[in-house]
Amino acid sequence: MKFFIDTANLDQISEAQQLGVLDGVTTNPSLMAKEGITGRENILKHYVDICKIVDGDVSAEVVSTDFDGMVKEGEELAKLHEQIVVKVPMIKDGVKALKYFSDKGIRTNCTLVFSAGQALLAAKAGATYVSPFLGRLDDISTDGLNLISEIRLIYDNYGFDTQILAASIRHTMHVIDCAKIGADVMTGPLSSIEGLLKHPLTDIGLEKFLADYRKGNG
Ligand code: E4P
Repeated sequence: MKFFIDTANLDQISEAQQLGVLDGVTTNPSLMAKEGITGRENILKHYVDICKIVDGDVSAEVVSTDFDGMVKEGEELAKLHEQIVVKVPMIKDGVKALKYFSDKGIRTNCTLVFSAGQALLAAKAGATYVSPFLGRLDDISTDGLNLISEIRLIYDNYGFDTQILAASIRHTMHVIDCAKIGADVMTGPLSSIEGLLKHPLTDIGLEKFLADYRKGNG
């Protein structure tokens, strides 16, 4: 399972990278705005800065909603750095753009996916990644994990290469559950990754080992 961090914050990306388990980064316009990154030039520069920190794929989202606009933006983003993956929304022109990018060898992440049908379309259009938004489904009392299972089944039935990128991860149990289902990738906040290492028995055990060592060694 690949681990992506879902943020545009350079400090958090560096921290996750230093942990040694990071495989990539996802961003979206809201996450960029949260970091105060505005203006086309600054936004493009920020994507390159992220690519310099992380060894892996960096999703950069288009903000156009028409085919021509998405193609123009996506091509510009893809030229920025070889690690860039163009993030395209699951709308009609987005599906057309996914197919266009796929034919051109430009890697894509189909975002805002909330149903198995949308995921099937993304795979048919040749998306590199599909991003079902697990947490946002849970937020409206719908079973987000069930969607990940359905997509896994469909992709395995037909041998689609599109990787399932479980997005909108909110906590560590989401990561574990997605790993059990067989999602190819998870993207979430740093806390969802760091939460995996925590266990009170580890802390208690280590404290005892060190206390016993100190008893014998001063
Ligand atoms: C996916 O790539 C999105 O950036 C993200 O996971 C959305 O998560 P949220 O629902 O926590 O905003």
